[in-house]
Amino acid sequence: MSIPDEIWQQAQMLRATIELHNYRYYALDAPTIPDAEYDKMFRELQALEQRYSQLVTPDSPTQRIGVAPLKEFPKIFHRTPMLSLGNAFTAEEVEAFDRRVRQTLGVESVEYAVEPKFDGLAVNLRYEKGVFVGGATRGDGYIGEDVTLNLRTVKSIPLHLHAGLSPDKPPALLEVRGEVLMLKVDFEKLNRQQLARNEREFINPRNAAAGSLRQLDPGITATRRLSFFAYGVGASEGGYVPGDKQSRVIDYLASLRFPVARECKVVSDAAALLKYHRDIQGVREHLPYDIDGTVYKVNDLVQQGKLGFVSRAPRFAVAHKFPAQEVVTELLGIDIQVGRTGTLTPVARLRPVFVGGATVTNATLHNEDEIRRKEVMIGDSVIVRRAGDVIPEIVAVNKEKRPREAKPFVMPGSCPVCGARAVRLLGETVTRCTGGLFCPAQRKQAVLHFASRRAMNIDGVGDKLVEQMVDNAIIRTPADLYKLGVTALANLGRMAEKSAGNVINAIEKSKSTTLARFIYGLGIRNVGETTAKELARYFGNLDRLMLADADGLQQVPDIGPVVAESIVDFFAERHNLEVVEQLRASGVRWEESAGIQQARASPDQTTISEVGKLSGKIFVLTGTLPNLSREDAKEKIELGGGKVVGSVSKKTHYVVAGADPGSKYDKAAELGITILDEAGLVQLLQDSQADLHPISRNS
Ligand code: IVH
Repeated sequence: MSIPDEIWQQAQMLRATIELHNYRYYALDAPTIPDAEYDKMFRELQALEQRYSQLVTPDSPTQRIGVAPLKEFPKIFHRTPMLSLGNAFTAEEVEAFDRRVRQTLGVESVEYAVEPKFDGLAVNLRYEKGVFVGGATRGDGYIGEDVTLNLRTVKSIPLHLHAGLSPDKPPALLEVRGEVLMLKVDFEKLNRQQLARNEREFINPRNAAAGSLRQLDPGITATRRLSFFAYGVGASEGGYVPGDKQSRVIDYLASLRFPVARECKVVSDAAALLKYHRDIQGVREHLPYDIDGTVYKVNDLVQQGKLGFVSRAPRFAVAHKFPAQEVVTELLGIDIQVGRTGTLTPVARLRPVFVGGATVTNATLHNEDEIRRKEVMIGDSVIVRRAGDVIPEIVAVNKEKRPREAKPFVMPGSCPVCGARAVRLLGETVTRCTGGLFCPAQRKQAVLHFASRRAMNIDGVGDKLVEQMVDNAIIRTPADLYKLGVTALANLGRMAEKSAGNVINAIEKSKSTTLARFIYGLGIRNVGETTAKELARYFGNLDRLMLADADGLQQVPDIGPVVAESIVDFFAERHNLEVVEQLRASGVRWEESAGIQQARASPDQTTISEVGKLSGKIFVLTGTLPNLSREDAKEKIELGGGKVVGSVSKKTHYVVAGADPGSKYDKAAELGITILDEAGLVQLLQDSQADLHPISRNS
């Protein structure tokens, strides 16, 4: 069907008007028409597009939300790296920055563009011929994640560029750099919803923004209101892009209808930088978004070019960070949390207080001795510190303000959850519940640990779900996870069948794992990830590990009597053996090997030299590999018997280098060490496997 001219024009008009009001509403926060009028226009456009499907283009305001959820985010290379900034914390450091800049440029004074430092996530938006074609997170600065579908749902990101200050057509390519964040009001709204839905609240707007932007289902992202602020340009080709000043770049971006910070200014000496910082600190609380400092950039882009970069940060810019925030509040009580291995941890319950961009209601007190050392009493007025994402802590107590009714803390003699005896062993700082896996708190933690990313890596099995499942007696042990059905989950009431299905799929997927992950997931006391890997490498199969005695275990590198005893104790417990057998019976499996122990015990077997192939070989990883994450590469090398260390020395056998390798690459070249790329590593691993003993699968 061909489109009548007047229909086409009508659609164009509606789009232009909707975009203008979008901009006024989402970018300027200054709407000029009632919502109902906007909605009416929007529906009109939708109706037209429904009748004439040729009208639908990807940059139409109706096309923000995609459909299908992704399996994972594709990785993309940034054409121009997204660098980070050096930090300054004190006036002296700022003055030193200014001095260095002037000295390097050989000038008396320098103009600076000053901006707030948004506390969100850096993204790169790509526009081709003025149309939004893709966007990615910063990642490591060189490789980020393609989050295009999610960025399309951010209403203040234009789907196509307004004519703006460009005298002619939009540039063939324009990369816009900026920050995705959640406004404080939207964050509070979201948390109220989370609470009402019995879902976990977000810690602060940045976490909420990150969690929302990194949703595989853009439908979910669309329900979270995210905002975007532009602060720079990455790559550009053709067309007009200001090339003289940072402040002009900001004006240009604003003219294209990108939101920019209202607090951008140009100043001209260190004293003015510091004044700007103080002024911003003064209004910080009233800003609509969280910031964690100010950014100073040499305004002249030619001067910027002359100053250049040191390693990964520009010499022409610096982030002046706010100090960690401290506030005073009241210690209302001390609760006891029961951990996975039964540790009782005292947690301070505080009168809610806003600090460092979040409302803090509790803080860790670590253990009994710590409470004694800080002389903390219930009812005290306490100083709480919160820096970035770190768990808030009690710095000190104001003893002068101690109320008369303040009470000392007493470690309970029994577990507050299951009532079993709580004991503190001689020489230990922690008190433990002796209830073992009869204690629901320990059971929950055991399941959570088993499902965690570095163990069995089961997506969707988090705090709330485990709590509900254990409380409703749907599961008791990690093994019960593999007996779950969609109905049982969906019956919990908080889950639609679809997400229940996703959880079941994730559980199913986790069945294929590695021995190291499995051992780690069991949650044996004193057996962390590294020890689990050592054990897997040494024994190669689970039965040999389970049968080993304390002496045998101490043959494993870095395992001493304490860890050995924990392992023996664990496998001596009938309950634990049952769980392990149930897990195997439900199909949890991994590749087994002869292990090193076996090889040593029977030197006549062919396996010994083969196992020796990578065993003892020392690897160093540098740069970003195209497919393998650093963790994956490490895991593969360790499975093959090799060891991964942090720095290159004469003892290094192989350096595995990816995109943008660091100085380790140069050092390796200098020392004549074999440098492998990812393909080379994979080949090496395959070669060393090929002539190994047959690989058995347990099931
Ligand atoms: S400019 C080459 N300006 O800070 C310099 N960054 O530590 C590129 N950030 O990843 C960054 N507000 O996420 C710049 N006004 C601002 C910023 C800003 C926040 C973040 C950005 C970047 C990090 C650098």
